[in-house]
Amino acid sequence: MSKLDSHVIKVNPGGKLNGSVRVPGDKSISHRSIMLGSLADGPVHISGFLEGEDALATLAAFVAMGVKIEGPVDGKVLVHGVGLHGLKSADNALDLGNSGTSMRLLSGLLAGQNFASTLTGDRSLSTRPMRRVTDPLITMGATIGTSSDGFAPIKISGMGDGGTRLQAIDYKLPVASAQIKSCLLLAGLYATGKSCVTEPGITRDHTERMLAGFEYPLAVSRQGDETTVCIEGGHSLKAMDIDIPGDISSAAFFLVGASIAAGSEITINHVGINPTRTGVIDILRMMGADIEFKNQREAGGEPVADITVRACQLKGIRIPESLVPLAIDEFPVLFIAAACAKGETLLTGAEELRVKESDRIQVMADGLQKLGINANASKDGMIIQGGELTGGKVDSHGDHRIAMAFAIAGMRASGQIEITDCANVRTSFPNFVSLAASLGMAIQE
Ligand code: S3P
Repeated sequence: MSKLDSHVIKVNPGGKLNGSVRVPGDKSISHRSIMLGSLADGPVHISGFLEGEDALATLAAFVAMGVKIEGPVDGKVLVHGVGLHGLKSADNALDLGNSGTSMRLLSGLLAGQNFASTLTGDRSLSTRPMRRVTDPLITMGATIGTSSDGFAPIKISGMGDGGTRLQAIDYKLPVASAQIKSCLLLAGLYATGKSCVTEPGITRDHTERMLAGFEYPLAVSRQGDETTVCIEGGHSLKAMDIDIPGDISSAAFFLVGASIAAGSEITINHVGINPTRTGVIDILRMMGADIEFKNQREAGGEPVADITVRACQLKGIRIPESLVPLAIDEFPVLFIAAACAKGETLLTGAEELRVKESDRIQVMADGLQKLGINANASKDGMIIQGGELTGGKVDSHGDHRIAMAFAIAGMRASGQIEITDCANVRTSFPNFVSLAASLGMAIQE
């Protein structure tokens, strides 16, 4: 049996969530803190860093490229930034594990270097589409390639020592993706002239916020639903410290858990509530959830709050397509909310879910059906009839968010839910099981 297959989570019915917790640091911001911190002109102190496998893969990649990084210890990291042109060629391929964010953002950042790089990943990452980043990078003049199927490994030749640079690009994203946008903005740091990226819907803006925090000039403009970000190559990043808030994508499991388990009331402290990430709150509130923001403040250029949630009866809704990119990572657990709601929930316009760490539409529909829920997958979404969850065994397909979503469902099931292939929970939420148990879930690994 493989290492992944042997990792099982079991949840017994009947638990409820009470108390207050802090969830680990935001994964997207943790990646970017290492990437941009490494390119800064001097030392960057980071706190609240996510010590999960994905962010650690990014950290290891920059160490391999010659950046001195101390930590993490208790979420604290010290990155000795080497400046925009201080990275060095790694001796080996950079193994980015399960992390699509690392691979896509690094593709852009490394395309403009004067050395060659190879990016590899695990089985899941090696079946995720990469031409969405390599195609526009080729337009910018990069020499970069994927396998014949458009998958990792990604091989980048680099620009060489001859002084050739990437050319600026004016690019309209074919899908609303923060990873493609960020990839091209990072390539834009190394391009001649001004690169502009236009997104068809709003996606997370952590790269833009952090670049602005490092005093790197960039311009953001909005026209209707479209946002355009422009960046000029060749400026520098002034070292600053970064305080990373708790990850709303991790908090989402407990937001749904406390909503669906009778008698629950929890507060999740210091959670990032960047409006490009709060689709899960909007959707849950539309379903009738009782969610309150307290102590709203700012930390490290990002809005933060303590979030209190109380149990209540959710109702099925039609999820507005405009909220899809703002809740893109939270659909596995939102499907659990829908399964526990009264009536029907309809999701459309979410085809991107099919190319995440797993096919999150199919894998969730299969698991919900196994647990007695009427869930029908469509090309770009799902229709779920709220009902009674039974116990049973579900396969997470090595997808961290699917594993945690079904664990949350366990509180409302009539029998034990056993979830297989859960090792990848460590990529984003290493202490999920112990935190869930401390809040009152009957969960074990
Ligand atoms: C991320 C962007 C999203 C999200 C991923 C993290 C990021 O991907 O699903 O988990 O940090 O930029 P897409 O931009 O491809 O939708």
